Amino acid sequence: MLFKTKSYFLLALTAILLLQLGIAKAQTNIIPKPANIALGNGSFIINKQTSFSYPKKNESLKTLADYFSNHIQKISGMSLASNQKSAQKIEFKLVDIAALGREGYRLNVSKDLILLEANAKEGLFYGVQSLMQCLPAIRTNEALKVPFMEVTDYPRFSWRGMMLDVSRHFFSVETIKETIDLLASYKMNVFHWHLVDNEGWRLEIKKYPKLTSVGAWRDEVYGSRWYSKDSTLNFNDTYKYGGYYTQEQAKDVVAYAKARNITVIPEIEMPGHSGAALAAYPQFSCTGIPQAVPNSSVVGGFKGHRGINFEYCAGNDSTFLFLQDVMKEVMQIFPSEYIHVGGDEVEKFRWEECPKCQARMKAEHLKDTPDLQSYFIKRMENFLIANHKKLLGWDEILEGGLAPSATVMSWRGEKGGIEAAKQGHDVVMSPSNPLYFNRYQADPKTEPFAAGFSVNSLDKVYGYDPYSKALTAEQHKFIKGGQFAIWTENIATPEYLEYMLLPRLPAIAEALWTPVSEKNYDDFVKRLNQWHFNSWAERGISFYQGLYKKKY
Ligand code: ACM
Ligand code: ZN
Repeated sequence: MLFKTKSYFLLALTAILLLQLGIAKAQTNIIPKPANIALGNGSFIINKQTSFSYPKKNESLKTLADYFSNHIQKISGMSLASNQKSAQKIEFKLVDIAALGREGYRLNVSKDLILLEANAKEGLFYGVQSLMQCLPAIRTNEALKVPFMEVTDYPRFSWRGMMLDVSRHFFSVETIKETIDLLASYKMNVFHWHLVDNEGWRLEIKKYPKLTSVGAWRDEVYGSRWYSKDSTLNFNDTYKYGGYYTQEQAKDVVAYAKARNITVIPEIEMPGHSGAALAAYPQFSCTGIPQAVPNSSVVGGFKGHRGINFEYCAGNDSTFLFLQDVMKEVMQIFPSEYIHVGGDEVEKFRWEECPKCQARMKAEHLKDTPDLQSYFIKRMENFLIANHKKLLGWDEILEGGLAPSATVMSWRGEKGGIEAAKQGHDVVMSPSNPLYFNRYQADPKTEPFAAGFSVNSLDKVYGYDPYSKALTAEQHKFIKGGQFAIWTENIATPEYLEYMLLPRLPAIAEALWTPVSEKNYDDFVKRLNQWHFNSWAERGISFYQGLYKKKY
């Protein structure tokens, strides 16, 4: 009896102690949560005398110090000097610690020194992102305190991407840059730019000016869900909708992204989803029938222009010469290791009916149209490899046999990715459920119109793990990481784009960066509430507010 009372007493004492520890266990609001973090008692206080310190001749570290300094100025009005004698320093140091890789960093915050170390500028950039999330989320007159801490941080996956469709709706360079800034703040490193689809061609190609003079402008219909309502137009009126990026603008985006450790990967769709290119140059289609303008909406039953041609003719050698010319200009703009060639949803019946395609199949001993699709992609891969580029495509490129060194982006679930990894090909997982962020994030009855099929809620996105259980540890080596996608059939404005992005972006960022053992959904939502929601609200950024101010 005595023993029992004693044990209850001990149990209660332990519970109280644990509770106190739990309360005392200070937390940062960093998303994605660092791989290793230990907090101390006390804070480094940034004041006017604090100086940045870094090797003087290193331009990229100077740029990084300026970037951090601008942020400090924005939230506090203070402007910090660099490389001045000062009792208090924020020091950036390049080191050689194999375990950190290019993207990892070490951060040590003590009384008079914030020491940020990394092997490369990428890691230093991420250390700065973490530091920025330790400062106040909104402009303040209060002291800028950074808690004492020791952080050793690096990503779980090397590919942490976003795809944005700018064909169905066009987004300005300014919006693209704002999106890139958001990606960078959550340590994402790939921006996959879906520049081409049936509804619009969005990149200037100098050798083929009609790609943009014709292919970038569709007749849109008032009332279509594909476009925001314009009350000056009547129900049946059509009006020009479109836009494109000049090569200079695209290069500017590439440089802007690079400065934020983001690789821009262009997608030039083929052989399907090519209606805009074929409106401009119908001679590369199977039918050759001209179409005045690219597709517009049929969604919602309104009158629109459904396309005539969607696929390039695989039997016509001039199609390949055209695409190679396009790729030559694309490769001049985008220095990425990868070029994405699409490859999804090819409607093959036109190939069945086309004498040139049939002749090609005969000459190349191809038994069916999936084989012809495989021929098409392999031929383009040969060209890309000869130009020192790697081919990336949607999982349909598995049909008829994968091109020898193709990387597969798995969107129809993980099936294609699993199959490709088993064949020894690199894979990026982008299953539409839960990684298509144009789908609902909460009950459709309470949300603005979005794509159906699945509700891709925050907790589902957070819980996503690209390492499929259907693969062995050995096969996991081929899984480079994960990527979410935003298709824009129903997303016409930058505000709605932000809304669909946030807060799912930080959720996938943590899923791709943080070790599984460190992940915790409730804790993640708490961090969103304590810092991130406030930061977006302060900056006028739209976001889904279903969890805003949720108490824990
Ligand atoms: C896709 O969603 N068609 C890649
Ligand atoms: Zn054909």
